Amino acid sequence: MNDKVPQFMPWVGESEYKAIADCFEKNWITEGPKSKEFVDRLLKLIGAKFGVLAPNGTLAIYLALKSLGIGPGDKVMVPDFTFIASANAVVMVGATPVFVDVNPQNFQIDLSAADHLVTPDLKAIMPVHIYGTICNMDSVTDFAKRHKLMIVEDAAQAIGVHYKGRHAGTFGDTAAFSFFADKTLTTAEGGLVVTNNEKVYEQLLYLRNQGRIDRGTFIHPEMGFNFRMTDIQCAVGLVQLDKLKEIRERKLVILEWYKQGLRDISQVTFFTPDPGAEWIPFRVAILCDQAHELMTYLEQNNVEPRTFFYPLHKQPALVEILNKENTPLNDSDFPNTLTAYDRGICLPTFATMNKEQVGYVCDVISQFFTRK
Ligand SMILES: Cc1ncc(COP(=O)(O)O)c(C=O)c1O
Repeated sequence: MNDKVPQFMPWVGESEYKAIADCFEKNWITEGPKSKEFVDRLLKLIGAKFGVLAPNGTLAIYLALKSLGIGPGDKVMVPDFTFIASANAVVMVGATPVFVDVNPQNFQIDLSAADHLVTPDLKAIMPVHIYGTICNMDSVTDFAKRHKLMIVEDAAQAIGVHYKGRHAGTFGDTAAFSFFADKTLTTAEGGLVVTNNEKVYEQLLYLRNQGRIDRGTFIHPEMGFNFRMTDIQCAVGLVQLDKLKEIRERKLVILEWYKQGLRDISQVTFFTPDPGAEWIPFRVAILCDQAHELMTYLEQNNVEPRTFFYPLHKQPALVEILNKENTPLNDSDFPNTLTAYDRGICLPTFATMNKEQVGYVCDVISQFFTRK
């Protein structure tokens, strides 16, 4: 294949371009009518009562935590296997992340041996729905109830994903979504916080709008900041929402092509969602021996793979903060996140990927395992 097979390409084109042009024609580019319509349609899709936009998923998680009053002196349980933004948002509100291992089937949070991590300063648990599927939310909600913890869902990767018929983001006290360019639905950059609690919603409004509910007044009853998106981004989001069903269908077909193409390669296994956990294969995540050598081989053959997440308990950026808190950080507490990094590969997938490209990636993988 002459052209590189990229890890990801956003599916944006003529329709998004026209929607952006419409903002200019109507001369409304900041948060306005399109933003309102975008939030309304997202809330309908998700089935949540209230929602506010944020500039990106990281700041949406920050708002989701902050609106619940989580701050300095508090701890939040976070899976060891996630994008660093989940933990960074905890640090950003002044709280400390406490890491817990994930399960070995699909690398979602595993609470079966997490009781000993519960301390009086642990205020919340953050299930992170990874790679387009969703955590076992029965076990998360049981754990939270048993230990009287709030739930803040990191649903950055989980738009359109359900657990037993309920959309991701509707189990928690708050939940955050991301619309970054590689997400199932994109606005280039963007985020959303949802809640069913009216008081929390009011806090979110203050926090995102300089401590006032309405714009245009210069009296600010609360402390707040600027977490707005723009109508330009939301115009793109509205077009993407129209495409969501097709994006999901295409991603499922691409996954099937991969499964067919790699079915005879015994070294490769696929990621399996929990029973009851639906998914949109946002990533095609496989596990295999010699994963890092295979990634080098893929790169040499014009395919762009991606590693799984590096365990958070080993992140250079976080170790100093965690050591200050005397949090025990033993590799032996995180066998599954270590295995995930060692054996996991995200193969290219994007809505416009064609069968020939998938076939080519499968051929390269096959060559790697059969070469002498
Ligand atoms: C699990 C998870 N949480 C949070 C984020 C942060 O979202 P953003 O990049 O929009 O800030 C991401 C983004 O990739 C993510 O994958």
